[in-house]
Amino acid sequence: MHPQDAKAILREKLKLQRDAFPVAERELAAEKVLGLILQMPEWKQAQTVCLYASFKSELDTKALLESAHRAGKKIVLPRVADGNQRCTLHHVTNLACLVVSNLGIPEPAAELPLIEPTAIDLFLVPGIGFDREGNRLGHGAGFYDRLLAKAQSKGFRLGYGYDFQIVSAVPGESHDIRVDAIATPSEIITVRSR
Ligand SMILES: Nc1ncnc2c1ncn2[C@@H]1O[C@H](COP(=O)(O)OP(=O)(O)OP(=O)(O)O)[C@@H](O)[C@H]1O
Ligand SMILES: [Mg+2]
Repeated sequence: MHPQDAKAILREKLKLQRDAFPVAERELAAEKVLGLILQMPEWKQAQTVCLYASFKSELDTKALLESAHRAGKKIVLPRVADGNQRCTLHHVTNLACLVVSNLGIPEPAAELPLIEPTAIDLFLVPGIGFDREGNRLGHGAGFYDRLLAKAQSKGFRLGYGYDFQIVSAVPGESHDIRVDAIATPSEIITVRSR
């Protein structure tokens, strides 16, 4: 099977699983993963962090965003310009000022200061699925593969998701960029140390 077809099938399966995860357990899962991330040396050392605002049934990132803000880290969020294949990174000082995009994702306004991907110490990388080798299945647009390529391997890449999003193998293509670690509510999976 072509990797793109294998990816599409796995994506649908994992999205259904994520939608079915009990609402009552979501907050606890987000608290647990936050507790683990706060102990990571890469998180503690990172001054400029590229995070994202979770949407739909994704593992929530709100507590992590607030924690980064309280810790005085420089918070950067991606913005997908309409009809664009790329995203831009913007410095966000007020988390209450995000604007919901066409795709339903809360994003920074275009006017906020632009940040270069090479200036990021740590990327929080969303995914529909990950494997223990650090392979990542995204939403299928290639935004993060392009973004991480522009970062030229600078910045620690931390995947983020529920435990059930860790699967035995994610099909990879040559453009796919792997993560260095994956944070889940039950463990931090270290793929490689940098
Ligand atoms: N560095 C790149 N340069 C040009 N095109 C790319 C690059 N990375 C990915 N793409 C294109 O993006 C498309 C989607 O890639 P892929 O299936 O890996 O998405 P994904 O990783 O699941 O999604 P996302 O990164 O948005 O979460 C592919 O057709 C691929 O050709
Ligand atoms: Mg990819």
